[in-house]
Amino acid sequence: MEECVIIDGVRTPNGRAHAEKGWFRNKRPDELLTAVYDGLFERNKAVKPEDVDAVFVGCANISGMQNDIGRLGWLAGGYPESVPSNTITNQCPSGMSATMHAARAIMTGEADIMIAAGVEDMEKVAMGANMDFPPRLFNRYNLLEFPMGATAEKVAELYNISREDMENMAIWSNKKAKEARDAGKFKNEIIPVMGVDQEGNEFLVEHDQWIRDKVDPEKMATMKSPFKPDGVVTAATSSPLTQGACCMLLMSRKKADELGLSYTYKYNYGVLAGCDPTIMGMAPVPSVKKLFERTGLGPDDIGAIELNEAFASQSLACIRELKLDNENAPFEKVNMWGGALALGHPLGESGARIVITLMNVMKTEVPDAKYGLASLCGAFGNGGALLIEKVS
Ligand SMILES: CC(C)(COP(=O)(O)OP(=O)(O)OC[C@H]1O[C@@H](n2cnc3c(N)ncnc32)[C@H](O)[C@@H]1OP(=O)(O)O)[C@@H](O)C(=O)NCCC(=O)NCCS
Repeated sequence: MEECVIIDGVRTPNGRAHAEKGWFRNKRPDELLTAVYDGLFERNKAVKPEDVDAVFVGCANISGMQNDIGRLGWLAGGYPESVPSNTITNQCPSGMSATMHAARAIMTGEADIMIAAGVEDMEKVAMGANMDFPPRLFNRYNLLEFPMGATAEKVAELYNISREDMENMAIWSNKKAKEARDAGKFKNEIIPVMGVDQEGNEFLVEHDQWIRDKVDPEKMATMKSPFKPDGVVTAATSSPLTQGACCMLLMSRKKADELGLSYTYKYNYGVLAGCDPTIMGMAPVPSVKKLFERTGLGPDDIGAIELNEAFASQSLACIRELKLDNENAPFEKVNMWGGALALGHPLGESGARIVITLMNVMKTEVPDAKYGLASLCGAFGNGGALLIEKVS
């Protein structure tokens, strides 16, 4: 097997998916992808777009502007027709799946240079857009338990996650994200992109739109669940609707050495796993368990963890079930620079974005750590876990 090293990874800032307030409301999702491809090639001049074997793009909702966005976005950006693309979906883990497939192509020797990307614009292509569920599915499941918010409520109830603990997690997520942003820690991964402010004035967006500088715990405690009467999950403890794109440059170690490129981390292992779709947020549990079983590793071997915060209820339940960290925020290893509750969660993008952030977190916070773990859940019980390793 070849070794697959991760040369670089970049992302757009995350914008709010809102038709009047979103900083990227004037951009299409393919334009966000072009921005990250341009940024990646600008930073890695030794690699020419035509030398890329293939581009794999994760996207949760592949319809409308996001229909075959892998291929169409690449061509629309002016990139070579000779480079093939594959648009990949398994809901939120899509960007992670794209990364796994790209890494495996390199490890098997079928490719030398791959781009793994993720993109989602939850304003232009709403969650569940054009969905036509197989009617037979609802002989097996209760349709009312399928929406994401309903699954988050069910997880909170089944795993006894209190509203107070969820709100505490959201407070910490915003605090850590704000501190990381103010310290310039996201600079290495964010490619600034032109956007528009609320009045419609153009400006260069350099930061994520969602991070709350001031979280008001009193207001939070009074917020109502949009998902269930008397529910406990609110907008504050849910990842918000987001727009964003990211991409990574993966290469065989041999090729990287030939081109004189430097690298710190390589892809080690990746698994997908499934769970009951009505508690889809628990999918990191079978995913991480499978990864640990197959690699012989455990939580103590991991230096940093990015666990996507789709909802505070599911993140807390997964952290506790897997014994990844403290029972409650603040966490030591998990989401050191905040998570999706603060940064946003552009569905199909996040699985790749958390791998990029994981590398930056490790380089900055735990440079001696050997392993880093990224995991996330996705609609309908999709889950993924991916392990990176410091190159020796
Ligand atoms: C929860 C959800 C329905 C809320 O949507 P929304 O009503 O458009 O939410 P907003 O983000 O505009 O927030 C609503 C209110 O909550 C407030 N709020 C949100 N987070 C807050 C916080 N941390 N503290 C205080 N107030 C907060 C907002 O300020 C806003 O109040 P305002 O109207 O007075 O300004 C939406 O974000 C959602 O569906 N999230 C989940 C997405 C999802 O399922 N992803 C897939 C996961 S697998």
